[in-house]
Amino acid sequence: MDSRLLFQDAAGFATSLLAVFAVDIATGKDTEPLPALMTTSDAINDAAAKILGTGEFKAALGETLVLHSPAGLKAERLLIVGLGKAKTLSIDEIRKGAGTAVRFLKPRGLRDLAIALPQDHALSDEHLESLPCLGMTRALIEGAALAEIDYDTYKSDRKDTAVHSLTVVASDADKSSRAEIQAGFDEGLTVAAAQNFTRSLVNEPGNVLTPTVLGQRAAAMCAEVGLKCEVYSMDKLLELGMGAFAAVSQGSSEPPALIVMTYEPAGGSAPNAPVIGLVGKGITFDTGGISIKPADGMEKMKYDMAGAGAMIGAMRAIAQLKPAVKIVSVVCSAENMPDGKAFKPGDVITAMSGKTIEIINTDAEGRLVLADGLHYAKTLGCTHLIDAATLTGACVVALGILNVGLFSNDDASVEAFQSGLATSGEKFWRLPCTDEYRDQIKSQIADIMNTGKNRWGGAITAAMFLKEFVGDTPWIHLDIAGCAWNDESKPWIANGPSGIAVRSIVEWVRTFGK
Ligand code: BES
Ligand code: ZN
Ligand code: ZN
Repeated sequence: MDSRLLFQDAAGFATSLLAVFAVDIATGKDTEPLPALMTTSDAINDAAAKILGTGEFKAALGETLVLHSPAGLKAERLLIVGLGKAKTLSIDEIRKGAGTAVRFLKPRGLRDLAIALPQDHALSDEHLESLPCLGMTRALIEGAALAEIDYDTYKSDRKDTAVHSLTVVASDADKSSRAEIQAGFDEGLTVAAAQNFTRSLVNEPGNVLTPTVLGQRAAAMCAEVGLKCEVYSMDKLLELGMGAFAAVSQGSSEPPALIVMTYEPAGGSAPNAPVIGLVGKGITFDTGGISIKPADGMEKMKYDMAGAGAMIGAMRAIAQLKPAVKIVSVVCSAENMPDGKAFKPGDVITAMSGKTIEIINTDAEGRLVLADGLHYAKTLGCTHLIDAATLTGACVVALGILNVGLFSNDDASVEAFQSGLATSGEKFWRLPCTDEYRDQIKSQIADIMNTGKNRWGGAITAAMFLKEFVGDTPWIHLDIAGCAWNDESKPWIANGPSGIAVRSIVEWVRTFGK
């Protein structure tokens, strides 16, 4: 999809379809929804006035209404896209609205689309809080780019529904906001391309995307955007003493991959400047190992590398957005398989940090690879750590599929992370990992064990295990098990890999550069 930004009157733009956003401005006293367009263009408002007056369009989020040959407009069609209640409008609805427009177009064989950049001042302050110009433009382009993708690459009767061109049409009236709109547009393209890259990795089946192939894809991406990338395998794991990571990999005939990507800010970083570590769980398939999983639903465990995918995607965006802080990403990739060489319950292994771990369940493998990944990131000089992992089913039970579980040993890091969420539009919910929970992982015969004494609070137990390996380093752990894969499609996005956490991680690292 070719995307461009134009400053002109949207009514005068010739395209097969022009999308415009509508919000419901009804207040408590109104019984029916009152749709209003987010544009100051008289021509567009006039073209839509009659149909909006009928009450058949409610402006609910994801709702669409199309008018053919709209009077007074150069576009062949006018698509009105609902964003929901004006009172609660945020830039996330704009992201979803843009996605809805793209996904409206695709199955109809249309190839070109224009979206009128919403003008919040089209509505009075009493109806709508004003929205940041940059964030709004950025969200719009992100939503459109994310919506373009369908995960049908392995279907032989795949239909070509590609959108050829998207034009964002911003009013030419207000010259002062042009630079911000342009910056939002550029950022949106970068971040969405990175998130789509993550999604394409997570979508791959386990037989295609082995740890070795993940390493190759990461290396190719790094070469493209100018990042340093090293990919190691079992020899290096053994040399570094990564006994936990190696144990997970040893039951598979596919070798592991330890992927290290490095971003250096222009001019280098000062000696005492922070170095951020992004650590990802990259299990390309999780059978559970000897503690094998039930067959039902096991096929989904190809997405057990979504944490790794998020970090690789985030690094792509980072290379292009160029924050003023050094960032190192450590991805630990392996396949968790049961065979004659596989690690077993009862085994005691030694992690790179020197801690001994009693294996209770080989299906709790993510925390093992991350234990070595987090420790290794510290040895590489990281002063702040974040990890992302499809770590526990328990997190899905606790938070469902809308909020990522967030754990941390540092309130300031959490605050900085949360400051980016208005921009990213992603949802995280903090859960505790205070030391009272440490009893759960006490082992009879080793320093710790890899599961809890009982099954209560399983997501917290996993976080407590990781905490053993970060020490005093400020650290955030994201359990993305519930949010990395959408089983159902939405009007604005196809089902399949979500690319969750890429946008928020990118925003977090940018807080260091400010
Ligand atoms: N990859 C799974 C977690 C998972 C579950 C991700 C559901 C996505 C959806 C992880 O390796 C795992 O199997 N965890 C176990 C831990 C248990 C053995 C303590 C789990 O959650 O059941
Ligand atoms: Zn597992
Ligand atoms: Zn797993």
